[in-house]
Amino acid sequence: MKTGSTRGERSHLLGFGVTVLLIAVRGWLASSSAAAASPAPDVAAGRALYATHCALCHGPSGRGDGPSAVGFATKPSDLTDGRLINQMPDDFLVNVITHGGSVEGLSSGMPAFGAYLSDAQVGQLILYVRSLASPPFQTAAVVPLVTAPRAPKQPIFFSHVVHAGKYRLDCQYCHADARRSEYAGIPSVERCLGCHRIIGAQDNPEIGKIQEYRRRGQPIPWIRVFKLPEFAYFTHKAHIRFGLACQTCHGPIERMRVVGADTGPSLAHDLMNLVGLKPPPRPLTMGWCVDCHRRENAEGGARAPLDCAVCHH
Ligand code: HEC
Ligand code: HEC
Ligand code: HEC
Ligand code: HEC
Ligand code: HEC
Ligand code: HEC
Repeated sequence: MKTGSTRGERSHLLGFGVTVLLIAVRGWLASSSAAAASPAPDVAAGRALYATHCALCHGPSGRGDGPSAVGFATKPSDLTDGRLINQMPDDFLVNVITHGGSVEGLSSGMPAFGAYLSDAQVGQLILYVRSLASPPFQTAAVVPLVTAPRAPKQPIFFSHVVHAGKYRLDCQYCHADARRSEYAGIPSVERCLGCHRIIGAQDNPEIGKIQEYRRRGQPIPWIRVFKLPEFAYFTHKAHIRFGLACQTCHGPIERMRVVGADTGPSLAHDLMNLVGLKPPPRPLTMGWCVDCHRRENAEGGARAPLDCAVCHH
């Protein structure tokens, strides 16, 4: 999932830091209060709720093989497979259980339980489900989701949390042009269908849309998020080959339900500079490019351009 070395990690993550910190603090508060109340009775309560509400589909042991499972095109998840389920942070599970699978783009075969279960009961269920995982679930290893600013509504609800987070598909598996060209590239309809001719094709309307685009012979009209003005030149190739991780410039994409970013020049930022506050440059502005080039040339042995003509030709 992570591309290249950790060289980029010390650079700024687009100001996502603040959001991540807030969510992390909230998560920590929640988990420390959960730890204060002894967990054992909660797990037991979760087990009882599971037997009543979930076992029919997910099976008595959580393997996704309950008596009703046969009726579903997309099978109920195997909740015991720690390799997959351990990747998913609590907020994802809470959302799926409370509002149903479709809220995270999954099959609506997973019903919404918000009308039947309290928040505390959902918490108990999650504690129980976590206890089923093999390899065992480790709280510290899971990072919360990030709500990216200014995320556009895309034509298909495509989730990096599912593809790059849960299934850990490599970024360059889909953005395959990044290391050899100017563009990173987005997979074609055919490429999506390589998996989705089968996966989710029958009962997930978001995945059904991929088939529709193919029938109409149209590419999927994804809305661009990261975009420089035409007069500036950027190329992925040099940056990827140098070993910068995608996340250095794009933030923790694998934890975004929908990709978004607050980039480019802004008036408020210019005003702060004018009064001498010197905030760090905003992502995708010239100051951002040049700052990193200076830093990597001084500290990382890079030969990144500072000439006007290289970025403006
Ligand atoms: C009517 C059948 C049904 C019932 C009842 C049901 N589920 Fe599901 N559940 C599903 C299906 C189908 C999926 C797979 C959705 C997908 O992968 O697109 C799923 C997926 C999930 C996921 C997502 C996990 C992942 O793969 O990321 C969780 C968590 C979950 N269920 C928990 C529960 C819990 C807890 C209960 C009981 C409160 C429950 N489910 C009851 C059918 C059901
Ligand atoms: C390597 C296989 C693979 C490829 C390639 C792939 N997907 Fe998926 N996708 C999956 C799997 C596995 C799931 C989980 C299905 C489930 O549990 O319901 C999924 C889920 C989804 C979902 C439902 C969950 C979500 O993300 O909202 C959508 C929509 C989707 N894919 C769209 C796409 C599109 C569009 C493309 C092409 C740009 C694509 N996928 C490429 C494997 C793939
Ligand atoms: C040094 C910073 C940097 C790194 C590292 C980087 N990107 Fe980008 N990316 C950008 C910029 C800047 C743009 C906008 C380019 C433009 O508009 O010309 C962009 C645009 C994109 C786009 C949309 C346009 C396109 O090129 O298809 C995708 C997708 C993308 N990046 C994916 C990735 C992936 C995947 C990686 C890691 C393999 C990565 N990026 C690494 C800075 C970066
Ligand atoms: C299964 C294919 C798939 C995988 C794996 C994947 N992406 Fe994407 N990516 C997409 C699709 C489809 C879009 C367009 C929809 C959207 O913006 O979410 C996209 C959009 C993006 C964009 C925004 C492009 C723009 O419009 O500016 C960035 C940045 C990006 N991906 C980076 C990554 C990174 C980093 C990873 C690895 C952590 C990754 N992607 C893994 C399919 C994928
Ligand atoms: C490393 C790449 C890079 C270098 C080197 C660079 N620029 Fe830029 N420049 C950019 C990018 C990207 C933008 C567009 C984003 C923005 O407006 O901040 C830009 C924007 C500009 C703008 C428009 C600013 C505005 O307010 O609209 C001017 C003028 C400009 N550059 C002049 C220069 C001059 C003169 C030099 C040499 C001293 C130079 N640039 C060197 C990347 C670069
Ligand atoms: C996080 C650090 C970082 C950021 C941000 C960054 N760059 Fe770079 N860039 C580099 C490094 C490192 C190299 C040199 C790689 C080497 O020495 O091989 C480089 C090289 C380049 C090159 C030379 C490409 C070549 O073919 O030799 C261009 C052009 C460039 N960057 C443009 C930009 C522009 C435009 C931006 C802003 C939109 C930008 N870069 C943002 C680190 C960065």
